[in-house]
Amino acid sequence: MRYGILSTLLLLGLVLAFGQACASDPQAASPHERTALHPGERIARRRCVSCHALPSPARRTAAEWRSILDDMAREANLNAEEKALVYEWVSSSSRR
Ligand code: HEC
Repeated sequence: MRYGILSTLLLLGLVLAFGQACASDPQAASPHERTALHPGERIARRRCVSCHALPSPARRTAAEWRSILDDMAREANLNAEEKALVYEWVSSSSRR
């Protein structure tokens, strides 16, 4: 009986750990994306792709991004916090 409870707990632990592994972002599949995505990138991947492909941050300067996001945050219905996170992401890898 005692071992029964122990192995049940062990099994539960394994199931929980496995569930965690499967709950990770299914889009983060390619090797360089396996590390945690910037929260701004995660927002962009969900919200900026309904009308066009995900834009590459490196193709614009931070200043260009500032004005693009003024338009596109409205298109994607981002709130101020989401917009700031997306800006943080694009500007951190923008063209210099
Ligand atoms: C509701 C549709 C829609 C959504 C959502 C949307 N966009 Fe756009 N986006 C457009 C359209 C239409 C254009 C092309 C016309 C234009 O430049 O205004 C565009 C153009 C762009 C361009 C090129 C602009 C330029 O000046 O060359 C970038 C970069 C861009 N979007 C980024 C984003 C980002 C980042 C998001 C998410 C925050 C986003 N878009 C969400 C519709 C959308």
